[in-house]
Amino acid sequence: MNDNAPLTRAICREIEEADLDGVADLLAKGFPSYDRAVWKGVCQRLADRPWPGGFPRFGWMLESKGRVVGSIFTIFTAVPLERRVEIRCSTSSWFVEAKFRGQGFRLARQAAKFNDVIYFNPTPGAGTRPVLDHLGFAPYCRGHFLAVAAASPTRGSAHICDYADYNSKGSRLSPADAALLADHSNYGCISLVCEAGDMALPFVFLRRRQYVSYAQLIYCRQPSDIIKYAGLIGRHLLKRGIPLLAIDCNGPIKGLIGHFMDNKPKFFKGQRAPRLGDLAYSELAFFGDYVSGFRAE
Ligand SMILES: CC(C)(COP(=O)(O)OP(=O)(O)OC[C@H]1O[C@@H](n2cnc3c(N)ncnc32)[C@H](O)[C@@H]1OP(=O)(O)O)[C@@H](O)C(=O)NCCC(=O)NCCS
Repeated sequence: MNDNAPLTRAICREIEEADLDGVADLLAKGFPSYDRAVWKGVCQRLADRPWPGGFPRFGWMLESKGRVVGSIFTIFTAVPLERRVEIRCSTSSWFVEAKFRGQGFRLARQAAKFNDVIYFNPTPGAGTRPVLDHLGFAPYCRGHFLAVAAASPTRGSAHICDYADYNSKGSRLSPADAALLADHSNYGCISLVCEAGDMALPFVFLRRRQYVSYAQLIYCRQPSDIIKYAGLIGRHLLKRGIPLLAIDCNGPIKGLIGHFMDNKPKFFKGQRAPRLGDLAYSELAFFGDYVSGFRAE
């Protein structure tokens, strides 16, 4: 228990569907760069998705006198791998009202308490490092490479198209890849299919903007795929006015033109570190167009 324990001790419990209005109110106050409608939309997206049984559906909250005074989202997803299903969890949107500070650790501890889960935190808040350390999180990715992908040479012939325009009849896309592309399209990400020979490779990006538009890589099957097809993908995205790709990495990427930004570490907890180039179903992907600012109404 923290030495500065406040006088008013809140109840810590799982968030239920009926709490979502209160959670949206709280988060609109806590993270005012997104208004209440955005937080309501995020809550609704959480409510609408399937989640693995036995794990919290939304996350944890602090309640005082019937009011939500703190919360953390836990986005649990069952990811089918070759021979088993992996449970992943992305924690996000951790906020506690000023009067109840000193109790937030309880939320973080509840959120990260499950064994056999790969937790990842791709957007840790400033100052949350001691809490992450204490809970057993470790950095797995130092930052990202900002690539002028369109300037990359074409390496091997392939055809890139939007998943929405993709004719899945006779497709070589696996059902798992097709589901991943469809889910992320629904979150407002850019889902692409790269047909190369007898293969159909999935790619997912989140469109973002900081001075210029860029596409953050959310998913590719393996890092070599994005390097090989960067030129074709870059030119496809350039037609949409997106000149840059941001690719998670731990140093400069050989074969791509651009700059390594060593300033946005991502953290994980669990038996293995998430693969670089796989942020599927993470907070970033899941909140998608709500937080990227590129939501089509
Ligand atoms: C981040 C936030 C939710 C933390 O809530 P809080 O009530 O201040 O957190 P707590 O005091 O319970 O716990 C955090 C601190 O106590 C320590 N702590 C508390 N209980 C502990 C325990 N039982 N064991 C070990 N450490 C503990 C933590 O390591 C941490 O250390 P610090 O005092 O150096 O900061 C809150 O500060 C907040 O809302 N901030 C604004 C929003 C934000 O930045 N969110 C994070 C980004 S998503």
